[in-house]
Amino acid sequence: MWYNNILETIGNTPLVKLNKVTKDIKATVLAKIETTNPGNSIKDRMALKMIEDAEKSGKLKPGGTIIEGTSGNTGMGLAIAAVIKGYKCIFTTTDKQSKEKVDALKAFGAEVIVCPTDVEPEDPRSYYSVSSRLEKEVPNSWKPNQYDNLSNSIAHYEQTGPEIWDQTEGKITHLVVGVGTGGTISGAGKFLREKNPNIKIWGIDTYGSVFKKYKETGIFDEKEIYPYITEGIGEDFLPRNVDFDLIDLFEKVTDKDAALMTRDIARKEGIFVGNSAGAAIAGLLQLKDKLKEDDVVVVIFHDHGSRYMGKMFNDDWLRERGFLEDDKLTAKSILAKRTPQEMVTIDVNKTVLEAINTMKSLFISQIPVTQQGMVVGKITESDILSALLENPSLKSAKVESITTATFPFVDLNTSIDRISGLINKENAAVLVEDEQGKIEIITQYDIINAISE
Ligand SMILES: Cc1ncc(COP(=O)(O)O)c(C=O)c1O
Repeated sequence: MWYNNILETIGNTPLVKLNKVTKDIKATVLAKIETTNPGNSIKDRMALKMIEDAEKSGKLKPGGTIIEGTSGNTGMGLAIAAVIKGYKCIFTTTDKQSKEKVDALKAFGAEVIVCPTDVEPEDPRSYYSVSSRLEKEVPNSWKPNQYDNLSNSIAHYEQTGPEIWDQTEGKITHLVVGVGTGGTISGAGKFLREKNPNIKIWGIDTYGSVFKKYKETGIFDEKEIYPYITEGIGEDFLPRNVDFDLIDLFEKVTDKDAALMTRDIARKEGIFVGNSAGAAIAGLLQLKDKLKEDDVVVVIFHDHGSRYMGKMFNDDWLRERGFLEDDKLTAKSILAKRTPQEMVTIDVNKTVLEAINTMKSLFISQIPVTQQGMVVGKITESDILSALLENPSLKSAKVESITTATFPFVDLNTSIDRISGLINKENAAVLVEDEQGKIEIITQYDIINAISE
């Protein structure tokens, strides 16, 4: 038996019992693992459905161009379907998304335009606006608009919901889903509710998103909106695909809890999935007191962990955000291990001779250069030597004339490995802003001292 093309392999994903990350939960928790779809995410289902519906309604014509604002997974589904069906794809996405996701879209021949994250949706630079403009400008183009296109939730009503019902033999009592466009929760949830009106539908939201407050108060509160790290879930507007009446509650999860749980799922369950799966399990743990022993919970795992290698699965990335508490030395602990000291600097307008004298008297071989109190560069012994060899009169020139690029700045949580990696022939030190906002310098000597203590 074979499939006629890769699109026929979408769906029929496995349902797998979780055993360790959910040990504090009385109920049976089953994960619907959507990584076995050809694009490694659940979004293949709705991408194909949106295309097929647009073909039927005549909105998408042969040889047309698909234009969409997508954070990656929907783009992947659209791109794969476009390869098989002979369409072109142009995607707009945000600079918050993993580079891996963007590169994966390009692998299928799609064009990807990366837009800034921290602008209003109405801003002409936003990825929503750029894709709308392209739709007007590119001939024979069609914008699926996954947020408001109800083919999205219908795909889950027709596929995801029935699969879950059959796989649990109708025993499901709770559906737990990270909510982005709302397609998954609304479509699968509607089908399951029709089968059994007692099934609870819980949405997982993130801090920085409007969903939870809107569900609880009916108020669209702009104060709820701020940048966050979690990808795929939460929004700063209300997509048509989110059926607020169907959803019983929303639970918000922090970026840190989502990231750490994503790692735990791989380490404890052997299931390699993305950040929204971590958010969903972390949210479920927050809600565990609402569950009984004979409940059967289905949690959707939307996408694959390989798209997050530079993020949740990278220790330095986690440490820099203060998400990883381990005993590795960091900029913060290196500073704590040495006696407090004032950083010596020299102003750009001082003379090279003054710089030489300062360095000589303090036995230092490099010095940060400041302008109006701000660090703008550095000078080193070897810069001074080569300048003076070339032109001895430079002694009376301004420090500015031989200043080179500043030492690299690191975060207080940056690990000793990263810091050592940044220290080389050109940069004998790194700079860091301490908790009081003061700039401190960390030299090779400080690192050796901290290790040997
Ligand atoms: C990784 C990930 N998780 C969760 C979601 C949310 O799914 P939905 O858009 O169906 O609400 C998405 C959607 O883009 C996603 O890409």
